[in-house]
Amino acid sequence: MDRVIIFDTTLRDGEQAAGGTLNVQEKLEIARQLERLRVDIIEAGFPISSPGDFEAVRLIAKEVRTPVICALARAHPDDIDRAWEAVKEAAHPRLHVFLSASDIHLLHQLKKSREEILETSREMVVRAKRYTDDIEFSPMDASRTEPEYIYQILKAVIDAGATTVNIPDTVGYAIPQEFGRLLEGIFKSVPNIGRAVVSVHCHNDLGLAVANSLESVKRGARQVECTVNGIGERAGNASLEEIVMAIKTRNDFFGMTTNVDTRQIYRSSRLVSELTGFTVQPNKAIVGANAFRHESGIHQDGVIKMPITYEIMDPRTVGIPASSLVLGKLSGRHAFKERLAELGYSLGEEDLKRAFSTFKELADKKKGITDRDIESLVAEERRTVSEAYHLDRVQVSCGDRGIPTAAVELTAPDGQVLADAALGTGPVDAVYKAINRIVNVPNVLVEFSVKSITEGIDAIGEVLVRIESGGVTYTGRGADTDIIVASAKAYMNALNRLLSAGK
Ligand code: KIV
Ligand code: ZN
Repeated sequence: MDRVIIFDTTLRDGEQAAGGTLNVQEKLEIARQLERLRVDIIEAGFPISSPGDFEAVRLIAKEVRTPVICALARAHPDDIDRAWEAVKEAAHPRLHVFLSASDIHLLHQLKKSREEILETSREMVVRAKRYTDDIEFSPMDASRTEPEYIYQILKAVIDAGATTVNIPDTVGYAIPQEFGRLLEGIFKSVPNIGRAVVSVHCHNDLGLAVANSLESVKRGARQVECTVNGIGERAGNASLEEIVMAIKTRNDFFGMTTNVDTRQIYRSSRLVSELTGFTVQPNKAIVGANAFRHESGIHQDGVIKMPITYEIMDPRTVGIPASSLVLGKLSGRHAFKERLAELGYSLGEEDLKRAFSTFKELADKKKGITDRDIESLVAEERRTVSEAYHLDRVQVSCGDRGIPTAAVELTAPDGQVLADAALGTGPVDAVYKAINRIVNVPNVLVEFSVKSITEGIDAIGEVLVRIESGGVTYTGRGADTDIIVASAKAYMNALNRLLSAGK
């Protein structure tokens, strides 16, 4: 087979990233985008881990029909039954069963013998197989496990019915050549390996997740597990966009393809960043803000003469819009809609109407409206849909003499308009205190950051906050040309997410 199967685990391993919690609707929105991106498999969650995860997997399985929808389960009967319950309505369901294999995990965590692990792995694949044919098995921490023992496990689970065997570098410990040798050993020493797809799942603790994944492809792996923007547990997972674009750009080296519609990469990256609150670093390969920017004069000169001089990929192939057309207050609805389409958004009539009116308001305040402004504006619109409390007004008085004071007016879920005021150490503190007097849910602000999303004094400011309540972190974002208003919106966004999770 000369195609690499792309297994996306943004919604499962990606969501395990500290502070990256998504609600059910946000997961569905990302799953829909992953479908447009044409990944082959979406690992939608770990159903036994929480009711929210169960619901997200169930909903995605019902609504997203083209890719395989996968649910994760430990090698335990209750996990497997629960995972199946969540994924059973999928057009193409998969169960992914995992169990630790390394002596380090067996000795210090599971306190089980190798024989017990081997037997449980086999039995649990048999149990999962009662539900569906499409079974994946992962011997966790494989890169720190004695290869001979991995071969035994793989042989046993394939005999029991596993159709994909995944080799996880769970703690990002592997070095490409060494990981490649493990793959080579598997192909040589597991007699029934031809009956399963060999997959890899690499973490990025040493910054080698993509290198290890690509080395594995070269050694015969035909499924790669990855996440959009490389998000995930600790230092993250192998980044989907880097793997896909390496395979495409260096087809001469790999001789492989993927099913991915690369023009959806940029849009997917923006959506995941927006909903998780994880900013993409500017120098991030493929999707970072600087990935296609040429600063040095020599490079600029070359690119103007012939892009191939310093550009190994055409930015349009990853969906970065080619036109640098800037919209302004005279731009009409048609131009706005066209620009949205070029950026990968297709809004319904109502949403378009609202977005266009916000665009016009913005155009009155700001001279040129760039793509980033439009993205921010659409994101802001999305955030206000389905909110419990809505921010109607915010007003502050501050400076180096007086006491910072804020007054806010919110619409409550029952439609009542509520107003309150508070003093604070600064204007943002005062606003948050005034909001808390109305919303009244205990929470602690653990992160606050503000950045301008474009250049210029009239730029939109984007605020990100994280609040903690009951041991869970909720992220909120808000954007406005006034950073106090953006701060209020971000806080309201986080509070609304907290409230909707509580429900
Ligand atoms: O990193 C890991 O080992 C995992 C498994 C569940 C595949 O995420
Ligand atoms: Zn993982």
